[in-house]
Amino acid sequence: VPRVFHDPSELRSEVRRAQARGQRAGLVPTMGALHEGHLSLVAESQKTCDLTVVTIFVNPTQFAPGEDFEKYPRTLDTDLKLLSRFEPVWVLAPEVEAMYPSGSTTEVNAPEIARTLEGEFRPTHFDGVATIVLKLFQVAPADAAYFGQKDFQQVRVIEEMVRDLLVPIEIIRCPIIREEDGLAMSSRNRYLSEGERKIALVISQTLRASVAQIEAGATDGNLLSGEMLALMQEAGIAPEYVTIADPQTLKSVETITAEVVILVAAKVGATRLIDNVLVSPP
Ligand code: PAJ
Repeated sequence: VPRVFHDPSELRSEVRRAQARGQRAGLVPTMGALHEGHLSLVAESQKTCDLTVVTIFVNPTQFAPGEDFEKYPRTLDTDLKLLSRFEPVWVLAPEVEAMYPSGSTTEVNAPEIARTLEGEFRPTHFDGVATIVLKLFQVAPADAAYFGQKDFQQVRVIEEMVRDLLVPIEIIRCPIIREEDGLAMSSRNRYLSEGERKIALVISQTLRASVAQIEAGATDGNLLSGEMLALMQEAGIAPEYVTIADPQTLKSVETITAEVVILVAAKVGATRLIDNVLVSPP
């Protein structure tokens, strides 16, 4: 059973003590409702770290009014059971007041790369993410932090923040874990009805079809993303964006001559899903 902390400063002292004994600490920030995607980050941390800290905190500042902050699944008991397969894991499950002391108004202004894609549809989201992630780095001063490529733009934002603000932590990207049929795992998948779950599958199918086309020599980014948009709409999905972009800058690519990332955000019913894939031309 993982050791659970509610007090961030108690966790920080313990992490520092472990490091003073020569241990390497890994950090896996999450909002809980854990699935195999999250657990793959813990497994990756355990490969090189003596100790893994998993934070479980539904961060209010990254949700806009009208988004799913209130209904976001909170399943701490199940999460702890899932984590008990790993050893040693420490869990930080703080109250909102512990991460946002009353009266606090300081926040991180996310880097420029946050303004596009997700930023156009969720303009305050990455400021909230960058703020909480920097705080988590302060209370769990780990040697390395593990992030999933599932949230591709998020990991780019964190990489740039760490570079810009000289944060002494190594950022490690981990691959997307999918259900057997291809749907990217997400805590939000549990919002989907049975019918919506089938429709949602079209997102990963469409991504795979585009990968195949690019690997076969297709180079027109706008044509491909237009085709993807149409395929998803036909299936009853409402895409917010479908973009073929440079993996570094996230600027859209007209002619594919090097590795690109295909990024999708789409609504299936009321549920907003994201997915992406990296692909290189032949
Ligand atoms: P959350 O959505 O819980 O995701 C926590 C971490 O798990 C993120 O790094 C995310 O990319 C990764 N992850 C989610 N689904 C995955 C999958 N199918 N395969 C691989 N990794 C996956 O992202 C957040 O929480 C928050 O924004 C957070 C960074 C914790 C800040 O509040």
